[in-house]
Amino acid sequence: MYKATPSTPLDHVALYGAHLNDQDVIRKTHLDFLDILLAARDDNGVGFSKVDMRAEVDTFSFEGHDTTANGTSWAIYALAKYPDIQEQVHREVREVLGDRKDYSWADLQKLTYTSMFIKEVLRMFSPVPGIGREVSKPLVNDGVELPFGMTIIISLFVMHHNPDEFRPERFAKEKFSRRDPYSFVPFSAGPRNCIGQNFSMNEEKVLLARIVNRFRLELDTDHDIVMIPELIMRAQNGIKVNVYPRT
Ligand code: HEM
Repeated sequence: MYKATPSTPLDHVALYGAHLNDQDVIRKTHLDFLDILLAARDDNGVGFSKVDMRAEVDTFSFEGHDTTANGTSWAIYALAKYPDIQEQVHREVREVLGDRKDYSWADLQKLTYTSMFIKEVLRMFSPVPGIGREVSKPLVNDGVELPFGMTIIISLFVMHHNPDEFRPERFAKEKFSRRDPYSFVPFSAGPRNCIGQNFSMNEEKVLLARIVNRFRLELDTDHDIVMIPELIMRAQNGIKVNVYPRT
């Protein structure tokens, strides 16, 4: 088990990069992602190998970028497809943020309708449409025996499509608290769930707020949207919307 260093007093954090020798220790007061990887040690004091490091960077580059970019693209499509919902998001963004371009974390917490909208996009378009697991010990699920070693693919997209109607209000606290929490798992669940989920929700809020504040979006009715569930939920020929400046 690797321990990253945020629990280590920061003035004692010593970073040994591949190009550094033991005398060239960098001392920093703030650790970025690569610093944390470089400083991480397992219980025997051994750091990540270059291959491990590469795997971690690949995971973050994909999980941190492609997923949110994809979720935001589907959100733009949904705004264009549901003009009344777009106006409601726009109204909230104007009320909370006005013309400001710098937003604080506290501002983003106030975007409750926009948050519900993004969750409904994650439900209906599931940027990560499925997850896979290998059965590590024999398991009986709903009367079906799953043997050791079997690979299971769980379709989050299929799970999410009941009901089928696009309605952000279903995520209002009082309504959603009555639902099974596992009925909505765009970021997976359990010990390997997404570590970037809060970050990505906030990232999307910033992007969408900036967009709806400046532009009105309309569907391009000449362009067909065909959803292709790959590692992420692709649109076969891309997503096209018409964009008009708000006056
Ligand atoms: C809309 C945006 C996102 C969606 C839908 C999403 C979805 C997911 C899902 C479903 C998993 C679990 C995969 C599994 O169970 O096998 C996952 C894992 C992960 N995500 Fe995200 N993700 C998003 C954004 C992000 C961001 C912004 C970051 C980083 C900044 C991130 C970092 C990770 C990492 C590192 C894992 C692996 C966790 C582990 O294996 O312990 N994700 N994500």
